[in-house]
Amino acid sequence: MEKLGLLYEGKAKRIFGTERDGVLWVEYKDSATAFNGQKKSEITGKGQLNNEISSLLFASLKENGIDSHFIEKISAYEQLVQQVSIIPLEVVTRNIVAGSLSKRLGIEEGTPLKNPIVEFYYKNDDLGDPLITEDHVEVLKIASPQELALLKQKARKINDVLSNLFSKLGIHLVDFKLEFGKDSHGEILLADEISPDTCRLWDKNTNQKLDKDVFRRDLGDLTTVYQEILNRLRGETTHV
Ligand code: C5P
Repeated sequence: MEKLGLLYEGKAKRIFGTERDGVLWVEYKDSATAFNGQKKSEITGKGQLNNEISSLLFASLKENGIDSHFIEKISAYEQLVQQVSIIPLEVVTRNIVAGSLSKRLGIEEGTPLKNPIVEFYYKNDDLGDPLITEDHVEVLKIASPQELALLKQKARKINDVLSNLFSKLGIHLVDFKLEFGKDSHGEILLADEISPDTCRLWDKNTNQKLDKDVFRRDLGDLTTVYQEILNRLRGETTHV
């Protein structure tokens, strides 16, 4: 498989074409960004950790009947994915109150939610990725009500699988962000990445944060906690 030209560069990944129609080459970068790019840093090894973690999580989802754009990991920093047209929504699922929900509703971080909730954010850097209602999604012509219902259903199923998986590793899946795309047949497929950049992961015993909040809030060394997630996913339990 040959890597062709750069198609897109985001904050955390570069996407290239390949000689195979409909297959893209994703390279995970070592950049860490937060607060819509206002805080930035280069962290050696971060891209490799996220590539590996995301590949393992997509593979686990596949084993549980949830398809995604992921095809295969091809090197430390790279994976092949199916080309999709990204739906400009960030689908956030929450099990425990944290981050923006805590600020928005004035509920203490760490408060468990009785039932998981799903939120939609408009993926638009200029607007700062605002929280939007289902009616706003229709106004923006991003997705039909049926498609939104499907996105919610998929997010809840993914939440069940990932919460269960992380729970067995001694980790609370607090919340996470998903992105979806449409394939050439118009089918909705899970896309982007699932990693400690896009999930909040707290150690069940100590509540230690094992995710990007370590970078956002200057709580310590990012690669140490991402490596801990990877070790637990590989079945090599260590303690940070
Ligand atoms: O900031 P907030 O509390 O809304 O984030 C909810 C979840 O979505 C967190 O796990 C965060 O890492 C993730 N997220 C993301 N990319 C964004 C916004 C949030 O991965 N642009």
